[in-house]
Amino acid sequence: MKWVVVDDYDALSSAAARRLLDRLEEKPETVLGLPTGRTPVGMYARVVRTCGKKDPCFRQVTTFNLDEYVGIPASHPGSYSTFMKQHLFDHIDIDPERIHIPDGLGSRWAGNADSLDERLKLECAAYEVSIADAGALDLTFLGMGQNGHIGFNEPGASFASRTRVIELSESTRRANAEHFRDENVPTRAITIGIATILESHSIVLMASGERKAESVARLATSGPSLDFPASALSTHPDVTVIVDRKAARLLK
Ligand code: GLP
Repeated sequence: MKWVVVDDYDALSSAAARRLLDRLEEKPETVLGLPTGRTPVGMYARVVRTCGKKDPCFRQVTTFNLDEYVGIPASHPGSYSTFMKQHLFDHIDIDPERIHIPDGLGSRWAGNADSLDERLKLECAAYEVSIADAGALDLTFLGMGQNGHIGFNEPGASFASRTRVIELSESTRRANAEHFRDENVPTRAITIGIATILESHSIVLMASGERKAESVARLATSGPSLDFPASALSTHPDVTVIVDRKAARLLK
């Protein structure tokens, strides 16, 4: 793992955006794995500033989001689909056909399966096929939950896991409650698997702020351990971890 420690969230966002934009310059048809959450917001803002609607940087890019909540439509204000539109897709020139976000209702499978669970199974399998058809992820950006989750791979997730439906932990639901106002946070989500993430040629994990300090310290010291999903990254040959000084506070 390559570690980059920067001063603050602004510097982290700039470093991550630079990495993304450099890759698009090198390879305009890049396949990106993209995260949601608070951490990547600054990176997306910088990317949007550089690649406006008129700039061709995203024209040939294909994107796969890491995860989506189950049981809400893409149009729901708390969905990751809405998040991605607000922070990135509505502001860049990208072919909508090349944007992939799991559908937490599996709607397009309505004619093939009666129950929600059956539709979601088809949705997850199709998502893996789409990633393989795109030739695998080139560059995947990750945030990290305080419990070490990546995507929505919660502690205990197999390192061989693929895109599937998972139960969200209470702590993750609490951490993400702000996006759901009075409604309950969904209890399940679709996430790409840890094996899917590990097949990405390059990975950039970002962590910012004091509340991530413990998980960052654990990431730096832990060998692969099922109860800390981000530790799976220690087995990957090309991972860059970008952290700000607050998140790096407990690093030796
Ligand atoms: C969510 C997302 C993860 C993200 C994590 C951290 O649970 N599914 O992909 O990494 O939150 O979020 P934040 O960046 O807000 O700390």
